[in-house]
Amino acid sequence: MTADSKRRQRHTRRRHTVTAVALGLALSACDKTDPVLEQGKVVWDGTCKVCHLNGMAGAPKIGDTFVWKNRIAQGTDVLVSHALNGFEGNQGTMPARGGNPGLTDAEVAAAVQYMVSQSE
Ligand code: HEC
Repeated sequence: MTADSKRRQRHTRRRHTVTAVALGLALSACDKTDPVLEQGKVVWDGTCKVCHLNGMAGAPKIGDTFVWKNRIAQGTDVLVSHALNGFEGNQGTMPARGGNPGLTDAEVAAAVQYMVSQSE
């Protein structure tokens, strides 16, 4: 083996380690073991993200523990009911099912759970 190919091999190994660490972090961050949260993330990405990622139209931003604290304190049932039926608050209007009538109750509830899990 030439010195050059050895160097290349070392380099490749290091890159794999970095990838594995990044993947591990990504997996632990979104808790792949809970199927409800996994489904919730898919629904959230498809319907809720447009407002809840950056707080568009007054939506509470995902991951902003400060704005979510009092909302979460209402309990999951209230949050899910507001997400299903729509909700007019001080910040703006949460449309029923995020404006996507094709979503089932379970899908909306999973999306709420996902968003809460990222915002506690
Ligand atoms: C068109 C923008 C928009 C979309 C899309 C949207 N939301 Fe919202 N959502 C809002 C706004 C605005 C509020 C805050 C209303 C207020 O408190 O004034 C809100 C609030 C909420 C709340 C907090 C309710 C409470 O009682 O405090 C939950 C839970 C929620 N949304 C879930 C969802 C879910 C789940 C989806 C996707 C299925 C979704 N939202 C999609 C705009 C949106």
